Amino acid sequence: MTFETSLKQTAQAVDTLLDELLPLDAPARQVVEAMRYSSLGQGKRLRPFFVMESARLFDVGEQSALRTGVALECIHCYSLVHDDLPAMDDDDLRRGKPTCHIAFDEATAILAGDGLLTFAFEIAADPATHADPRVRAELVLSLARAAGKDGMVGGQMLDLMAEQRTGQTLEEIMRIQSLKTGALFGFSLEAGAILARADEVDHKALRTYADKIGLAFQIADDILDVESTPEQLGKQTQKDAEAGKATFIDLFGLDGARTKANELVEEAVAAVHRYGNKATNLEDAARFVVNRKT
Ligand code: IPE
Ligand code: IPE
Ligand code: MG
Ligand code: MG
Ligand code: MG
Repeated sequence: MTFETSLKQTAQAVDTLLDELLPLDAPARQVVEAMRYSSLGQGKRLRPFFVMESARLFDVGEQSALRTGVALECIHCYSLVHDDLPAMDDDDLRRGKPTCHIAFDEATAILAGDGLLTFAFEIAADPATHADPRVRAELVLSLARAAGKDGMVGGQMLDLMAEQRTGQTLEEIMRIQSLKTGALFGFSLEAGAILARADEVDHKALRTYADKIGLAFQIADDILDVESTPEQLGKQTQKDAEAGKATFIDLFGLDGARTKANELVEEAVAAVHRYGNKATNLEDAARFVVNRKT
């Protein structure tokens, strides 16, 4: 299956499962409506795609991989809902529609984010995700580490703090980006190895691929903020410079950032070379990460 078909199929499968897992007949219907609003529909579903592809390397069952991907996507969607809040990036457009706090209200958006975050762990810990409780515990542990203070949440904190000052070094920018964006990609690639109880060599290869594409992904996001339009991207553009965000573009300019992203892609491709034909989709995905238009 080609990369495009595989990505499309993952997106459809993610939507179908999320729709099933989030029925509206809940005691607090409003929070479920806001959770569905922020997780169903648009979205590239790249993180679940990476879970599925890393799982395929080891012939892990589809249901285990899909449920793990959906758990991760719930964390990602929560991070976007909170990232868009007035206290953070203050955005009004996400995935081509009004952000959660605009469509509902701020309190509901905070709770929808909390709901998605918690639900991710409910999905990961459910026996339907993997028959072996040790594997489920390992998934929960890794997901928590990737999402929390030493991962995405920590990166979001450093990203906001960096708005208050200028002149970040390359090391500082890489640190912020690898935490706020790279950590969730790290989990997405290691998930296959966790589900398969693969050995440390596999974990290491997948972690290297993830580190490279995570960084390349955020560089591309920062370039799109400068070069794209809200119509094309489905979110506001020209926001980072205005907010004083620390990006690669500050340091290297647009061309330098592009060169850096392309170097990272080639390093990522090299890291999964050991999987031969089984890694073709991962190679294409690495190139998509930097050439994408949305
Ligand atoms: C946007 O992520 C947030 C960043 C980490 C830069 P995506 O570009 O993957 O967003 P969706 O899920 O496709 O909307
Ligand atoms: C956000 O990075 C990364 C998250 C953890 C949500 P950005 O703030 O650059 O993401 P966008 O551009 O709003 O999607
Ligand atoms: Mg942000
Ligand atoms: Mg933002
Ligand atoms: Mg951005």
